[in-house]
Amino acid sequence: MTTYLDFFELTQEPFSNAPVSRFYYNSAQHSQALTRLMHAVSYMKGLSILVGDIGAGKTTLARRMLDSLPESEYEAALLVIIHSGITANWLLRRIALQLGVENPAQEKLALLSQLYQRLLQIYESGKKAVVLIDEAQMLETRELMEEFRGLLNLEVPERKLISFVFFGLPEIEKNLKLDPPLAQRVAMRYRLEPFTAESTEAYVKHRLRLAGCPRMPFSPEALLAVHQHSSGSPRVINTLCDNALFEAFLAREQTVSAELVHRIGKNLGLLGVNTPAGQAAERPSASASTLPRTASSKVDLAEIDRYLEGLGKL
Ligand SMILES: Nc1ncnc2c1ncn2[C@@H]1O[C@H](COP(=O)(O)OP(=O)(O)OP(=O)(O)O)[C@@H](O)[C@H]1O
Ligand SMILES: [Mg+2]
Repeated sequence: MTTYLDFFELTQEPFSNAPVSRFYYNSAQHSQALTRLMHAVSYMKGLSILVGDIGAGKTTLARRMLDSLPESEYEAALLVIIHSGITANWLLRRIALQLGVENPAQEKLALLSQLYQRLLQIYESGKKAVVLIDEAQMLETRELMEEFRGLLNLEVPERKLISFVFFGLPEIEKNLKLDPPLAQRVAMRYRLEPFTAESTEAYVKHRLRLAGCPRMPFSPEALLAVHQHSSGSPRVINTLCDNALFEAFLAREQTVSAELVHRIGKNLGLLGVNTPAGQAAERPSASASTLPRTASSKVDLAEIDRYLEGLGKL
C-alpha cells in the first residue's frame, strides 16, 4: 500500500515535531533572537532571557545556539530543567558536571570552590563559560534565583566568569521577581514572536523542500489558513500540515485546500491554544508529569539524574 510519503513523493516526514536540527529554519524571528543572544554571550553580559509562547521554537533555538557557539571560543552547555522540584544543590552539581568538573562534591561550599576553580581554568584557557537553561520557568524558588545571582557575581577584574541564557515561558519574569537583585542583573531580554504569515509560508516550503517534495501541495489559501489556525506557532503548523497531507492522501487529492485546513484546525480544537487559558490547558503542571517521585511532595533527584544521563546517550 502506498503511504502519504509516496503519494506526495517525499523522502522523509516533512512535519515531524521531533526537534531535528537538519530541519532548522532560520526565520526572521529566530534569526533576530539568535543575533541578540550571541551578542550577549560573546560580551559575557551575564544573564539573558529568551521568552516565547508554547511551541514558539525556544528549545529549537537553544539547541541551535549551542551548535553555533564555536568550541574554540566557548565552554558551553545546555541544561534542561525537567522538574520544578529541583534543589539548589542539584542545580549547582549539574552546572558543574556540564562544565567539566570531575567528581563534584556533595557539600555546597566544596562544590562552589570546585566550580570557581573550573571557571578560572576556562577563563585562563581563553574561553567563555556559557550555560543555556531550557524550561527555565520551572525554576520556581527564591533559593534557586539566589544561586544564579551568586554565580553571576563570580568575576575577574574585567569580566564575568559565567554567562547564563534562560529559555522559557513568560512566567520566567514572575520567578525572577523572587530575587529583585537578580531581576536587575538581566542584561538582555528578548521575546521570540510567532511566525508572521510570510514566515509561516516560507517555513512550510522550507520543510517540504528538505523532505524532497517536488511540487507545492498546499494552495496559497491553504497556507493562509495554516497561519490563521496556528497563530504562527511552529509546532501547531507542523501538526496542521502533517494532518492535512495525510487527509489529502486518504482522499487522493494532490492539493491541500483551505477548506481541508479549516476542518482539521477545528477537529484539532486549536482555537485558543495560544491564549493564556489555552496554555494552561495544554501544558500539564510539572508535578503531574511522569517523572519519578519518592513521596507525594518529594522529588527523586537521583532518578532525574539517571533520566538526563539517558537522554544524553540518545
Ligand atoms: N526555527 C525552526 N525551524 C524548524 N523547526 C522549528 C523551528 N522552530 C520550531 N520548530 C518546530 O516546532 C516544534 C516546536 O518547537 P520547540 O520545541 O522548539 O518549541 P518550544 O518553544 O520549546 O515549545 P515549549 O513551550 O513546549 O517548550 C519543534 O519540534 C520543531 O519541529
Ligand atoms: Mg521547549
